[in-house]
Amino acid sequence: MNRFPLGETGIQVPALSFGAASLGSVYHPVSQDEANAAVEAALGCGLDYFDVAPYYGLTTAEAALGKALSGVRRESYHLATKVGRYGDKDWDFSADATRRSVEASLKRLGVDVIDVIQCHDIECGDRRQLVAECLPALRRLREEGVVRFIGITGYELDVIETVAIAEKVDTVMTYCTYTLQDRRLAPVARRLAAAGIGVLNASPLGMGLLTNRGAPDWHPGNERVIELANAAARLCRAAGGDISDLAMRFALSTAHESDIATTVVGTANAGNVRANAARVGHAPDPQLMKAVEAVLEPVMNAGWDVLPGNGGKAGR
Ligand SMILES: NC(=O)c1ccc[n+]([C@@H]2O[C@H](COP(=O)([O-])OP(=O)(O)OC[C@H]3O[C@@H](n4cnc5c(N)ncnc54)[C@H](OP(=O)(O)O)[C@@H]3O)[C@@H](O)[C@H]2O)c1
Repeated sequence: MNRFPLGETGIQVPALSFGAASLGSVYHPVSQDEANAAVEAALGCGLDYFDVAPYYGLTTAEAALGKALSGVRRESYHLATKVGRYGDKDWDFSADATRRSVEASLKRLGVDVIDVIQCHDIECGDRRQLVAECLPALRRLREEGVVRFIGITGYELDVIETVAIAEKVDTVMTYCTYTLQDRRLAPVARRLAAAGIGVLNASPLGMGLLTNRGAPDWHPGNERVIELANAAARLCRAAGGDISDLAMRFALSTAHESDIATTVVGTANAGNVRANAARVGHAPDPQLMKAVEAVLEPVMNAGWDVLPGNGGKAGR
C-alpha cells in the first residue's frame, strides 16, 4: 500500500484508511465477529490507520474497534478518534467534557495514547467553546502525552478551513466532499496542505449513497441526489460494473492531485475491505466515468439539504 505524509505529523498514512463508524452498526447490524474480520482484513491489506468516534453507534463503534484491535501490537497501527459530538444533536466542547471523553475513549479502545484526536463536526457546536476550552484542553493532553496530534472534522468547508488555519491544527477530516458526486474539497485541501495540515477525505462512497445498497434511510441527501445516484448505480450495473468500484477508484486515483493524504472508507465487511484495498492504484474506466458524470451532473457539488442528525440547511 502506498503511503503519504499526513501533513507535518510525521505519520505516513496508507492511501486507504479504515473508517470504523460501520462497526457501530450505523448502516446495518454488525456483530463483533464481523468487526474482528473486517479489522483483521484491513491490517492484512496495510490499512493501519483507524478512524472512529464516541458518537458512532453511541460508543459501540469504539468498543467494537477496541476489542478487534486487542492483541494487535500498538506500534503497528495509528488510531484517530474524536471529542465534542455525543449524539445526533448533542455537542459539548467544554474542557471538562473533552477530558472525560478522551479518558473514556482510551478505556474503550484499550490504549494509552491516541495518535490523532479530532473535534467532531465543529460547524454544529459552540465555536467560542471550541476555541476557548476544547482545543486548549486537547493541547494540555498533548503535553501530558495522552494524545499526539490535534485535528478538526466537519462538513462545511469554509468553517473548517477558517478554524484549521486560525488554530493551526495538525489535521482536517471532511466527509462526502470528495466523491463522484461532489468535488468541493479539492481546492480547499490544496490550501490546507500548503499550510502544513494533513487532509483526510472521509466517506468516498458518500455515506452509502454511491453503492448498490443505496443511501441509508437517515441519509441527508435530497430526493434528487438520491434519485440520480441510484440511476448512476443502475447504469454501472448495466455496463457490468459497480458504482462503489468506480467511486473508490475515482477518489483513490485522484486524491493526491488534490493533496489529500488518505481516503477513509467505512465497511464492516471483510470482503469489501479487500475489494476496496485492491482498488488502490487503479484508475476508473474513462468511458464509464464519463457516462456516470453525465448522469450526476445536475447534482454535482450539491451539498446536503440537511446535515446528518442536525436539521440545519446546507444548500447548494
Ligand atoms: N464528521 C466526521 O468526522 C465524519 C463523517 C463521516 C465519516 N467519517 C469517517 O469516515 C469513515 C467512512 O465514512 P462512512 O463509513 O460514513 O461512509 P462511506 O465510507 O462513504 O460508506 C460506507 C458504506 O459503504 C459501504 N461499502 C463500503 N465498501 C463497499 C464496497 N466495496 N462495496 C459495497 N459497499 C461498500 C458500507 O457497507 P458495508 O459495511 O456493507 O460494506 C457502508 O454502508 C467513517 O467510518 C468515519 O470514520 C467522519
